[in-house]
Amino acid sequence: MPTILVTGANRGIGLEFAKQYASDGWSVIGTAREPDSAEELKAIGAVEILQLDVADADSVDAFADALGDRPVDLFINNAGVYGSDDLDRDDWLKTFEINTIAPTLLAERLKPNVAAGDQKKMAVISSMMGSIGDGNGSNAIIYRSSKAAVNAAWKALSNRYRDDGIAVAILHPGWVQTDMGGPNATIDPETSVSGMRAVLDGLSVRSTGRFTAYDGSQLPW
Ligand SMILES: NC(=O)c1ccc[n+]([C@@H]2O[C@H](COP(=O)([O-])OP(=O)(O)OC[C@H]3O[C@@H](n4cnc5c(N)ncnc54)[C@H](OP(=O)(O)O)[C@@H]3O)[C@@H](O)[C@H]2O)c1
Repeated sequence: MPTILVTGANRGIGLEFAKQYASDGWSVIGTAREPDSAEELKAIGAVEILQLDVADADSVDAFADALGDRPVDLFINNAGVYGSDDLDRDDWLKTFEINTIAPTLLAERLKPNVAAGDQKKMAVISSMMGSIGDGNGSNAIIYRSSKAAVNAAWKALSNRYRDDGIAVAILHPGWVQTDMGGPNATIDPETSVSGMRAVLDGLSVRSTGRFTAYDGSQLPW
């Protein structure tokens, strides 16, 4: 069966990815900052849990060592933070580190693993809030800019990886009922992840580098 690696798999959207792919019989590798307390992830059973704090260089090195040269069919960069609504410099830098720089460096680092897989797919969970074309919001400048920047970085990655046969998706999960999305969000994790899985099923180098919502619609950059 294929192998999926998903970051931030201990709760929210990442946990749902782990649940759904495990239930379809995939080999699932889920990362958590604190594996010992990742109870819901452990409860899935057939999931390998690796420690990873994407903002900690030592943790990233240990994670890459633990993964080794294993092939990964689908790599989903899901871990993310919302950051502050205040324009705080340190929080902005931290949010960029987690939402923008870490996913892009991880993609580069794990490119050999994905190239060794059969499916050769990578995705980043971005957000419609990173869309400049749709930019009517006035809040969350830190979050919006971090997601706009990861969109730009991953669009470039899609061009960079095309000749290697690796397909890249930039996904908007919808407004999802998680700790980040809150209780008023419009869809549950199951709906969001089922939709994104359908998009990922159809992903190929012909459709690489698109900004796509969980319902398959194309979004303005
Ligand atoms: N929910 C929505 O409506 C929505 C909408 C658009 C986009 N998104 C995006 O979807 C992704 C998942 O969001 P979610 O709603 O599932 O959020 P969530 O419930 O807050 O979960 C966030 C996940 O990211 C992990 N994480 C945070 N910082 C990390 C770090 N430094 N290293 C490793 N893992 C880290 C968290 O781990 P800990 O448990 O250790 O904190 C947790 O597993 C994010 O990229 C988010 O921006 C969400």
